[in-house]
Amino acid sequence: MDIKEILKLADELILAKTGKHLDYLQEAILRGTVQGQTYTQIAEETYMSEGHVKDVGSEIWKIFSERMGKDITKSNFKAILNKENISEFSNQIFAGDNVTINNINICPELSTNTTKQTTPTPKQLHLELGDAPEIFNFYGRESETTTLQQWITEHRCRLIALLGISGMGKTALAIRLIDSIKSQFDYIIYRRLRFSPTPEATFTNLLQIFSDKDTPQSQETQLSQLLNYLRQYRCLIVLDDVQMLFNSQQLAGQYKSGCEDYQQFFQLIGEVSHHSCVMLISSEKPRDLAKHEKENHLVRSFVLQGLGVAAEEILRDQNLCDEANWQTLIDTYQGNPLWLKLTAIMIQELCGGRVAEFWQYDTLILDESLQDHLDRQFHRITQPEENIMMQLANESHPVTLPQLCQTSQLSAAAVLQAMQSLMRRFFVEKKEGEDGTFFVLNPVLRQYVKNRG
Ligand SMILES: Nc1ncnc2c1ncn2[C@@H]1O[C@H](COP(=O)(O)OP(=O)(O)OP(=O)(O)O)[C@@H](O)[C@H]1O
Ligand SMILES: [Mg+2]
Repeated sequence: MDIKEILKLADELILAKTGKHLDYLQEAILRGTVQGQTYTQIAEETYMSEGHVKDVGSEIWKIFSERMGKDITKSNFKAILNKENISEFSNQIFAGDNVTINNINICPELSTNTTKQTTPTPKQLHLELGDAPEIFNFYGRESETTTLQQWITEHRCRLIALLGISGMGKTALAIRLIDSIKSQFDYIIYRRLRFSPTPEATFTNLLQIFSDKDTPQSQETQLSQLLNYLRQYRCLIVLDDVQMLFNSQQLAGQYKSGCEDYQQFFQLIGEVSHHSCVMLISSEKPRDLAKHEKENHLVRSFVLQGLGVAAEEILRDQNLCDEANWQTLIDTYQGNPLWLKLTAIMIQELCGGRVAEFWQYDTLILDESLQDHLDRQFHRITQPEENIMMQLANESHPVTLPQLCQTSQLSAAAVLQAMQSLMRRFFVEKKEGEDGTFFVLNPVLRQYVKNRG
């Protein structure tokens, strides 16, 4: 019994009945049933309540029972499939009347490929990468790629935020990811929002990719057309530099005036039924994302961490020597590919590539272009956030929030708000300890803040 065939069959049947494709939970229930899992186990794996899983399960069995004219339940589904091979089962399901999907009548003999009837699949992939940077050397990131691939192709996530501090490699990873999953999509679109386009400008730009027709004037109609395309086709839309939609010198993740409607767009992408995926790339976590993630398992965020041992390749590219000192260099620079690249170039220029010589200085030396890069990030933070960063830079150990409040000039509420914002910018690391939650700056940011004086 091939699970893929069962899922294909179930997808066709459910599409025929409801006009919607098999979703993540329905698929998990069918897989679980075939593998002999209980509803409790399926609920645990899918992070859903058992009651909800049972309700969705009974809907599936009802659809199968109605179609086959016999009582199908979770307990007998596997036995029936074992008795009647899958093609007989399939014949029985699609025998008889024509199937109607959203008032479109489909002949039974064609119904094994109902997708063709409802979704005008383009003949070939439309790849619209716009101004995506070309990635030449790309190292590591295997597990990150696997997880994101799984979220997109298996779990059918609708909205994924790829987050992390600037330079960590979010854009590079997304471009590589596109390359590895492009065969599964009708449309793949990559757009950078670095000049903070209005929602109308972005919607118009996206709609023109799907159709030559004039785009509607009203933003509401644009949005509904766009959602229709996301339903009709399997699309992956990657919106990069989403932090540019947020205000500078205000707490992180607040939409600029004129960009507020993006919030509604992103929320709808998560809520409305479709089988596409929108990926947001940002160095600031949108404020409302955590709430949507809690409420909707098809909305997720992925915080990109350091490159780990693969970062050695970046040092090798710059012909650095003293390999024994490389791991310390990678750890100090948090495995951030950009920070490491800029530092490796400096070590090559100033120390002839000798990492041991670079470590002879008392303080951490930050390359000028790295300093400029950090200036641009730092420019976005508020005064209270800057105060907290300075406080943290002067602490020799990780500190708790009550400790910070004690030594800060700010009110406790202001300290908490500023810390939350710094966390959304990935500037501060949080460590859980036995005595509470501790906060610390990484060595590069610590040095940068100290250099500012
Ligand atoms: N896995 C990798 N292997 C080698 N180089 C990498 C890797 N990831 C990123 N880089 C390089 O590091 C630099 C920063 O990467 P990238 O621009 O993707 O970061 P980012 O997180 O998108 O930063 P920002 O938030 O500023 O846009 C680029 O030069 C990129 O080519
Ligand atoms: Mg980027």
